Amino acid sequence: MLRLAERFGRYGMYGVESIEDDFGEGLAQRHDAAMNFVKTGGRFGRGEDPRVLAARTNYFRETYAYDEPVVDGIEPFLRHPGFAAGARKVHGRELIRPNIVYANILVPGQELAVHTDVPEFRGLSRKKDPQWLMVAMHHSGLFDAWRMRIATGVAWFGHCRGGGEFVFYPDGPWDQPVALPVRHNTAIVLDTDSVFHGVDRVTEDRVPMPPLRQGMQLCFEGDGAWSVRDGDRQVAAYDWDDLRFSISWKAYCYADADEERAVRDHTDDLTRDQVLETLTADLRRRGRIDALPSDTELALTIIDAYIKFPPPTP
Ligand SMILES: [Fe+2]
Repeated sequence: MLRLAERFGRYGMYGVESIEDDFGEGLAQRHDAAMNFVKTGGRFGRGEDPRVLAARTNYFRETYAYDEPVVDGIEPFLRHPGFAAGARKVHGRELIRPNIVYANILVPGQELAVHTDVPEFRGLSRKKDPQWLMVAMHHSGLFDAWRMRIATGVAWFGHCRGGGEFVFYPDGPWDQPVALPVRHNTAIVLDTDSVFHGVDRVTEDRVPMPPLRQGMQLCFEGDGAWSVRDGDRQVAAYDWDDLRFSISWKAYCYADADEERAVRDHTDDLTRDQVLETLTADLRRRGRIDALPSDTELALTIIDAYIKFPPPTP
């Protein structure tokens, strides 16, 4: 896997996808997680300039497989029986369809804000619907009948010098988190759409974090050396052990062939109107809104009412 990562060679920054939707205009796709990170300063409640916080959480990512392998040699990982067995356990469902594999690389000083992943519902998609809305829908519990069950595997390769623990809240956001250290050739499978998780800061004492900006690339330079480049200019130099390298695996988990068919044939899809009617009625019942709030007001109320982040522990 390390050789495959080197062969792939160049990793772009995981940018903020823009919203092209009237509903919640002006909100970031992951408005929920970003707002919480800036408000709390992350898991340890560190106060920092929002621009520095943004650089910390804007890590490097590339896709290795999307339904089909994108890079040679990823097939055994995509079809790894250990992941499928883990996925069956997570959701208690038999039909496991792996669909995506992607690499995440964090350089010293980077971390990943605590969040839950963007879930999927029949009839909605992260391409056409706001991602924060889909996250709130799942946390509301009101749309479980339409939710796709997705299992996520995270595997680590390499020997990161320090930090970069995978932190997750297996017993819910109010209970103690578990911090898994990065260990070469180990993995975990969980429901990252439901379980809050993040990555603690990668130790920064050897190479301080450069001012990272969108558009920079992490490049393999040969012989165990990596660099961050801004066009042709080298911004920082690393060796393998400075980096935190993980590979994520995601699979749809179906109860049976009938369910898989219903998804494919769109015989039981949700519509956006249905979603907003259900949420608005629920918020009204709870006294969170009256009359007709503006779209932005409604959007912020939805995030606040349903997505309950784990509190920071300074
Ligand atoms: Fe995640």
